[in-house]
Amino acid sequence: MRDHFLVFGAPVLTEEDLEAVLATFRSGWIGTGPKAAEWEQTFARYTGAKHAVSLSSCTAALHLAMLSLGIQPGDEVITTPMTFCATANAILHAGARPVFADVDPRTGLIQPAEIERRITPRTRVILPVHLAGRACSMREILALCEAWGLALIEDCAHAIETLYEGQHAGTFGRAGCFSFYVTKNLTAIEGGMVITNDQDIAEQIQTRALHGLTADAWKRFSDTGFKHYEMVSLGYKYNFPDVHAALALSQFKRLETNLQRREAIWRRYDAAFANLPCLIPPPPEPGTRHARHLYTLLLDLDALTISRDRFLDELHQRNIGGGVHYLSLHLHRYYREQFGLRPQDYPHALWHSDRTVSLPLSAGLTEADVADVIEAVTDVLTRFKR
Ligand SMILES: Cc1ncc(COP(=O)(O)O)c(C=O)c1O
Repeated sequence: MRDHFLVFGAPVLTEEDLEAVLATFRSGWIGTGPKAAEWEQTFARYTGAKHAVSLSSCTAALHLAMLSLGIQPGDEVITTPMTFCATANAILHAGARPVFADVDPRTGLIQPAEIERRITPRTRVILPVHLAGRACSMREILALCEAWGLALIEDCAHAIETLYEGQHAGTFGRAGCFSFYVTKNLTAIEGGMVITNDQDIAEQIQTRALHGLTADAWKRFSDTGFKHYEMVSLGYKYNFPDVHAALALSQFKRLETNLQRREAIWRRYDAAFANLPCLIPPPPEPGTRHARHLYTLLLDLDALTISRDRFLDELHQRNIGGGVHYLSLHLHRYYREQFGLRPQDYPHALWHSDRTVSLPLSAGLTEADVADVIEAVTDVLTRFKR
């Protein structure tokens, strides 16, 4: 057995990353400034979006994206329950009501037919999540937006590299929101980004990200002389500092090679787990690129004598860290009580949520690490087979 614990979601950090952070540190300008602006330009170019606004988190990005559309109390936003609580929390922060739509049981992705079932006269936005890095059915979702006059905001926290018919995730609707949290495919420790093709949305978000001060406030500590700034709306403190931007820019250089490494790990896992009592992730849908953010097995609970949580304990005992993405939001106490939700209201999400297990997929895994994961998973699934 492995002699030390394999942490789930460990970031890949290099000496080059450290040098980039130190260079910014030594420049004397560590707060929001030129590096954040360079990171925005780099990300806009990479995704093909006209505008990119860097923020302190994806939660902030989702929150401000919704405010920029004029979301009001009483409005409804349709999203998936198979996501991190931040997605639905941001809807609540914007004053709207999250309405969950059930998912495809195999992929965990929001299903267009289920979205349509949940549309009411109060619906304003559809907010799909490209779970694990797999592209949602954008053609069908866009058709719904068009037919019902709804806005689209994409949660791309897992989907930095995701493509759908050659187009970057995050560019299909009014705004796309990204995360650079520690476990993400590219990390700035903490950080987020909104991309949009709409200049008004970009400007609104930039203003709201710094207390609602006029855009010039961003330059108030620059060397171009003192500038007055004025508060024009009630904003937040969501700006993205340059030290973090320096790390993001450095990490960006390895985005593609890291993706290739995760694809190679993915292939090894697929081959190793194909005949065990579990479902491996379906191949990416034709015409899409999967960002390979999470490798998730769906345990065949009927063929096993243990639950998913016991499976995770067994992995842990073998020094392998695993994860659950996610416990469906409709099962969380807050959402259950606040919105009167029952487990059976979302049968596919419930099924998926009970079975899903995420295995280590960091590009920093060695071949020996991957072999250890395979050995541990194989051992547990064989030992506890009915
Ligand atoms: C699907 C999803 N949406 C939103 C978020 C929020 O991202 P952040 O931590 O950058 O606010 C996360 C973070 O884990 C996420 O996984």
